Amino acid sequence: MNAASRTKLNQTPEWTALAKHREELGAPQLRELFARRPDRGTAYTLRVGDLHLDYSKHLVTDETLRLLRELAAATGVAELRDAMFRGEKINTTEDRAVLHTALRAPRDAVIEVDGENVVPAVHAVLDKMAGFAEKVRSGQWTGHTGKPVKNIVNIGIGGSDLGPAMAYEVLRSFTDRALTLRFVSNVDGADLHEAVRDLDPAETLFVIASKTFTTIETITNATSARDWLLTELKAGQDAVAKHFVALSTNAEKVEEFGIDTANMFEFWDWVGGRYSYDSAIGLSLMVAIGPDRFREMLDGFHLVDEHFRTAPAEENAPLLLGLLGVWYGNFFDAQAHAVLPYSHYLSKFTAYLQQLDMESNGKSVDRDGDPVDWQTGPVVWGTPGTNGQHAYYQLIHQGTKLIPADFIGFAAPVHDLLPGLIAQHDLLMANFFAQTQALAFGKTPEEVRAEGVPEELVPHKTFRGNHPTTTILADKLTPSVLGQLIALYEHKVFVQGAIWNIDSFDQWGVELGKVLAKKIEPLLTGDGGADAGQLDSSTAALVDAYRTLRGR
Ligand code: F6P
Repeated sequence: MNAASRTKLNQTPEWTALAKHREELGAPQLRELFARRPDRGTAYTLRVGDLHLDYSKHLVTDETLRLLRELAAATGVAELRDAMFRGEKINTTEDRAVLHTALRAPRDAVIEVDGENVVPAVHAVLDKMAGFAEKVRSGQWTGHTGKPVKNIVNIGIGGSDLGPAMAYEVLRSFTDRALTLRFVSNVDGADLHEAVRDLDPAETLFVIASKTFTTIETITNATSARDWLLTELKAGQDAVAKHFVALSTNAEKVEEFGIDTANMFEFWDWVGGRYSYDSAIGLSLMVAIGPDRFREMLDGFHLVDEHFRTAPAEENAPLLLGLLGVWYGNFFDAQAHAVLPYSHYLSKFTAYLQQLDMESNGKSVDRDGDPVDWQTGPVVWGTPGTNGQHAYYQLIHQGTKLIPADFIGFAAPVHDLLPGLIAQHDLLMANFFAQTQALAFGKTPEEVRAEGVPEELVPHKTFRGNHPTTTILADKLTPSVLGQLIALYEHKVFVQGAIWNIDSFDQWGVELGKVLAKKIEPLLTGDGGADAGQLDSSTAALVDAYRTLRGR
């Protein structure tokens, strides 16, 4: 669909129909919706690969879902999806194709960008990564002094950190435990210091992950890491080749840094940073879990890609999740979306999704550059259950805000060390099921009274319910299931961006802060001729206070 010719979203008949439907629904009661349709718990479910998805506890009827699908059809979601899969340049502000789906396409697939099939190059890099990973895992890759590498420190930020760092935590029980993997992202030197302070540099490999190889945090940390290594090893520049590899699209900058381009693993401008951990950016992860597990993960991604591409609208899980988000964000004014995994291994999952969702859909102009007058991406947040239950769930249950939430859980644990820990899993999952039940159905004042609660406490002990949740249940958290989950969210974000008519694949909003930091830095150090007089009075006074505290 041509964005320029598109009717403003909130002026389409489909939007108006949804607004009218929302008004007619009033304050939907989940108790009532379940009473009206007792099979809702089985009817409102989908199966995608290994994922069982229950959306019955949402404030929707068949009619709501039908109207939402009509909105998707009218806004050209399927057409944009097909254009993405075909390699068209749908990231218009950067004039780039958006082809993370090519990263997990099978060897014999044909996907063209500017007339060239990109799939052979994808598999050539995957093969090169696999060869390297095997060398490190088998101890054949030795450092400058001849010792095998035992520690891998990934230096990157944003999409060059969050993906592999998250996936390493998720798949810990599949990793080679003889290897130590650490992730450094923050330009706060404490991050690098804590990562290397107890490591033997002779056994340490730095993986410098940066699509552009110009990101100030990453290049600064990489430079400090190189200084640390060469100083500790009392070695010259030639030691770098054995201890540094690069993951990047920018061979020139990699070479300039001093890394042999033979040790560079390439990816391409059609892979967005936040969609890149299944590209060369996943090298550290591949070393940790091995190439076979990594390929299983890619197959999981591909399975959901194919589902998204081919499943009819009624059964299309990413489409459904995207539409539900639109329903709450645009018709209930929900500002936030919680993702609550009931797996300790998913501790970094929501942080990863924050970049995926908020950097993609945190936009306020449409694809033509005109301001949107509808809500776009939500605030995404959450931490693993049951910890959150003893912290912020209070606000979800009894606060004033509507916070739709995704609950993600697994039938069986992946650890098998202590039988007692396996038994604990039922307790974890009992909480998982109980929370969505409590959120949906609450507890009425009558039910509270029936328990003999004194009248003055009844309002305090009442739960109004009607808090919408999606439950995603799988057997085990395997590499494939992780790939399936990530692809599900990637495409959900895509669906929402397509409906809101925004470019989900650029990120101009990160630029201004970078430029200002460059101007402020010389004022802090006193180097260079930056003019403090150009600052606003607040920033000037803060800079002044900082300089005084630093004795400058
Ligand atoms: O935060 C902005 C951003 O451009 C992200 O999109 C990206 O993932 C991150 O910086 C890191 O960029 P690079 O991989 O080029 O170092």
